[in-house]
Amino acid sequence: MKILGIESSCDETAASVLSYENGAFAVLSNIVATQIEIHARFGGVVPEIASRAHCEAVSSITYEALKTAGVALRDLDAIAVTASPGLIGALLVGVNFAKSLAYANGIPLVSVNHIKGHIAANYLSSPGLKPPFLALVVSGGHTSIAVVHDETHIEEIGGTRDDAMGESFDKVARVMGMPYPGGAALDKLAYEGKPVLKFPSAAIHDETLDFSFSGVKTAVLNYLNGAKQKGEVVCYADVAASYVSTAVEAAVIKLEAALDRHPELHTVALAGGVAANSHLRTAIEKLCDRRHLAFCAPEKKYCGDNGAMIAAAGTFEFLSGKRADTSLNASAFYGE
Ligand code: KG4
Ligand code: ZN
Repeated sequence: MKILGIESSCDETAASVLSYENGAFAVLSNIVATQIEIHARFGGVVPEIASRAHCEAVSSITYEALKTAGVALRDLDAIAVTASPGLIGALLVGVNFAKSLAYANGIPLVSVNHIKGHIAANYLSSPGLKPPFLALVVSGGHTSIAVVHDETHIEEIGGTRDDAMGESFDKVARVMGMPYPGGAALDKLAYEGKPVLKFPSAAIHDETLDFSFSGVKTAVLNYLNGAKQKGEVVCYADVAASYVSTAVEAAVIKLEAALDRHPELHTVALAGGVAANSHLRTAIEKLCDRRHLAFCAPEKKYCGDNGAMIAAAGTFEFLSGKRADTSLNASAFYGE
């Protein structure tokens, strides 16, 4: 089958065409129009500007995806679109565009949950991956530990109580003068420093599998402000190394706890934009080696928001019989 995936939940307008034959995906096209430059001067995503930029891009990005794939609308078996969670105005652009395209051309429509989409990026990069497995989804908007029961059914067992992991990376990077989104730059800078500074853990000290990234973020800000007031020289590389190791350590602590509770799971999959973080990938891979578990993470091009992951998740939803119609609405919150 051939499926078109459309993604517009945050600041990337993306479309991709996949084929799925005999249990194997082939990515025929994967087009991403990022709005990073537009939002950079505000230091973060401005929702209304994001929606307008999606409106301008969604049609041409979709047609570019079809053209690159060499696939006509009549060849499509389904159109998949992110309907939740995300910025409501941004989501509505993709949802309404996909609904119109599907209705006008008589193509079945499937709604996709963005978190499931991030997890599904792993099926593209690790073709042998089969549920059940444990997933850590970390992005600019989400931080979740989830049990993936099957391709269409996930159960969130842990999450953040405040900032998402990527959001806290971006905020720490911003106060160190790095342009938005600074996660990748912070990842790089951390290699030049030593984790000599002590910041509070982002793993909540209780029996839950929850995180709090706002405490560590505030501690970094206070450290930087305090040093400035005292006229002390700050080694930004050490701050980056200390912050990154605190964030990564929290992920390891809570994943260990999740694995203790779920001894039946033998694979850990990373997902989301922060899954591109090399320190995090290395730490989780080591954890898996230590526990004799399989580890997988998407290729970097499928870590951040993209249409291929939505088409992959949409394929499984479609094959399980899920369909959407013109009554489909977007939701900012977690939804099916
Ligand atoms: O998945 P994504 O594209 O968007 C959301 O769904 O939120 O994730 C974007 C996030 C940003 O916060 C960005 O700074 C972060 O992923 N990110 C990284 C790295 N590359 C991207 N964070 C840490 N290290 C990286 N290498
Ligand atoms: Zn995302």
